[in-house]
Amino acid sequence: MGIVFPKDFYFGTGTSAHQVEGDNTNNDWWQGEQDGRVKYRSGRACDSYNRYEEDFDLAKSINTNAHRFSIEWSRIEPEEGRFDEKEIEHYQKVIDALRARGIEPFVTLHHFTNPIWLAEKGGWNNSKMPEYFSRYVEFVASHIKGVKYWVTINEPMIFGSHGYRIGDWPPFQKNSFWGYGIAVSNMVRAHKIAYRILHRINNEAQVGMAQANNFFDAYHNELASRLFVPIISYIINNWVWDRIGREQDFIGINYYNHNRVHVRLSHYEKWFNQNENKKVTDRGWEIYPEGIYRVVKNAARYKKPLYILENGIADEDDDQRSAYIHDHLMWLHKAMEEGIDVRGYFYWSLLDNFEWETGFTKRFGLVEVNFETFKRRMRPSGKIYGEICRTRSIN
Ligand code: FCB
Repeated sequence: MGIVFPKDFYFGTGTSAHQVEGDNTNNDWWQGEQDGRVKYRSGRACDSYNRYEEDFDLAKSINTNAHRFSIEWSRIEPEEGRFDEKEIEHYQKVIDALRARGIEPFVTLHHFTNPIWLAEKGGWNNSKMPEYFSRYVEFVASHIKGVKYWVTINEPMIFGSHGYRIGDWPPFQKNSFWGYGIAVSNMVRAHKIAYRILHRINNEAQVGMAQANNFFDAYHNELASRLFVPIISYIINNWVWDRIGREQDFIGINYYNHNRVHVRLSHYEKWFNQNENKKVTDRGWEIYPEGIYRVVKNAARYKKPLYILENGIADEDDDQRSAYIHDHLMWLHKAMEEGIDVRGYFYWSLLDNFEWETGFTKRFGLVEVNFETFKRRMRPSGKIYGEICRTRSIN
């Protein structure tokens, strides 16, 4: 029978609103796409705003028992202070559609995009941001029924890094380390307030954040790089969790990357991502399954239930995905055998979708999407994942 996962383990998939819904015309990404600051346009994306039932039928057909998706703030609050009940009804239907299929919803409240009105006020650099966020969370949480698991914010460090350092995502600022720090701090504050609101409204709620964790090693074992590894690991992987402290019921980890840090005198941006192992995904990210074990071991220090809220591969030919999933689950299970309380694994993504600055060119889906006809087709790896979910085991 091989390696067996616990009975109540969640085997899920993930998506986010802007990447799959389509026509999110009222957020800062859409605006950036129209202004040509992002090379690609999300357009109708996967049209999942209309086709979510078909998507969830597919998720059910591969025996998943959980699904993570996000609510689009710009739909809920299209103008400052104007909340749209019709959109709440829409998301309630989405949740009910999951439940009807026996799939547990994990709801993300912020996955990278911001309403345009908010971006115009300085977005996450506005000190009132936690207040705006809490108003939105209060509205959502008091209207939505049937959700236990909430993910407040997705990947603050990645959001900050692209938006304020690399400058290829809204608000398109380059090397603004100040802006980066303020944005992440405001996200931490916003998370804490949201945590309290969600618990006040529903005392069964389980609330966490999704944090991208990279596994870092030193390039060629060089001394300067070796000294730098714990510092950068702490900043990227642990700092946000430490700041949140007790106000999280679980630790949400997104794992994709292994970075070999190469410290040198110039070009700090070239210190990262030294691929020694040339086995990479279509995204150029190194495939390093052992890293999931290492980041989980690192996060065990918080003594909270852990969920892998994202892990996945861009693989258009679908010739690496099955092995990728298998190997990551094998390493994850090893951590569990060593006593770490991991409760779920969400493959990213259920569908091919709008992969941010790379548009539709990078395909992470278990399900292939034709972006002209919106036809969906389960990939062979999707069926293999389906067998893992059905048997809760890998060989
Ligand atoms: C993560 C994002 C997710 C997706 C994957 C590939 O950083 O949270 O939306 O783009 O990367």
